[in-house]
Amino acid sequence: MNATGVRIAGVGHHVPKGVLTNADLERMLDTSDEWITTRTGMKERHIATVEEPTSEIALGAARQAIASAGIEAKDLNCIIVATVTPDYPFPATACILGAKLNVPGVPAFDIEIACSGFIYGLTVASSLVRTGVFKRVLLVGAEELSRIINYDDRSTAVLFGDGAGAVVLEASETDSFLSSELGADGTDPKNLYVEVGGTALPPICAADIEGKRNKVVMNGREVFRFAVTKMIEATNVALEHAGLTAKDVTWLIPHQANRRIIDAAAKHLDLPSDRVIVNIDRYGNTSAASIPIALSETVASGKLKDGDVVLFVGFGGGLSWGAVAWRWNGTVKASMNGKVGG
Ligand SMILES: CC(C)(COP(=O)(O)OP(=O)(O)OC[C@H]1O[C@@H](n2cnc3c(N)ncnc32)[C@H](O)[C@@H]1OP(=O)(O)O)[C@@H](O)C(=O)NCCC(=O)NCCS
Repeated sequence: MNATGVRIAGVGHHVPKGVLTNADLERMLDTSDEWITTRTGMKERHIATVEEPTSEIALGAARQAIASAGIEAKDLNCIIVATVTPDYPFPATACILGAKLNVPGVPAFDIEIACSGFIYGLTVASSLVRTGVFKRVLLVGAEELSRIINYDDRSTAVLFGDGAGAVVLEASETDSFLSSELGADGTDPKNLYVEVGGTALPPICAADIEGKRNKVVMNGREVFRFAVTKMIEATNVALEHAGLTAKDVTWLIPHQANRRIIDAAAKHLDLPSDRVIVNIDRYGNTSAASIPIALSETVASGKLKDGDVVLFVGFGGGLSWGAVAWRWNGTVKASMNGKVGG
């Protein structure tokens, strides 16, 4: 196998048109715009209709990333979708996306590691390109968390939204991949999980649905503590592996779970807020999609310049976490300037 470099050649994102605002949530739950805004930084999130399964919003993001890379879908050698909200328990949503892109035969698989999905996916996809296995890989983070949220539980209902972000990775003479730091600890998976629907318990029954046991349950305070700690640790280790420090980071693109988590980690890392990408007010937490959506918007804004150091960092169910240090390489044109729609 030939060792090569990897670069991001294209980016894109797509969110469903439906919007759930804090004012909507005020009408549904015992909550307030003031509480949600000050405790999370969120104002609105996008929600998919029943006609838009995850593969459909993934398709919107994928088409943009493919156009942004200046290629056609047939030029892809592999498709990876990071999601915990697949179209079906199986087969992989990536297979369905491949069919929708009209490239049957292209290898396709999902990565299921919750909100860390894009970080894990970027590491895996980069490794596949850098070792010469594939020349071009489409990586999509696509989620419809709205399908697994209990809208009677105010502690989770306000946090999550639907969306998809995508990148096309391709072989390159220069190497953008600087380092990766991944971790997972399944000692207490119940800090953030869906109880029924898998094999650990008897098949899901009517009482489970009635009791909302097929929806997300979260220990918010524990996850908050874990998130801040792991964001800082993973960032520092990834930077150390790359021979860099936080001072070298041009852009921090973190998982968008809570504005206070991002601010606390950035403060500890001594990163000024104008180098931290935050769009949580408009999308909420879109799990594996949040980082590629933020990246796509950053490219569309024209902020990213050749040679910039980008630090991607995420965390989530598992519990899991990870960071990737990346040197922005070349010029990438945003498709559609990051507009909603596909
Ligand atoms: C969920 C989260 C926003 C709660 O914020 P918090 O400031 O920690 O709030 P607490 O859990 O301490 O609860 C404080 C109070 O607010 C209440 N509260 C929770 N959600 C509320 C809401 N949507 N509206 C109004 N009040 C709410 C709680 O019931 C609690 O009330 P009490 O003191 O009467 O018991 C926060 O813990 C968090 O973001 N955790 C991480 C979640 C995350 O990132 N998950 C995804 C990981 S990928």
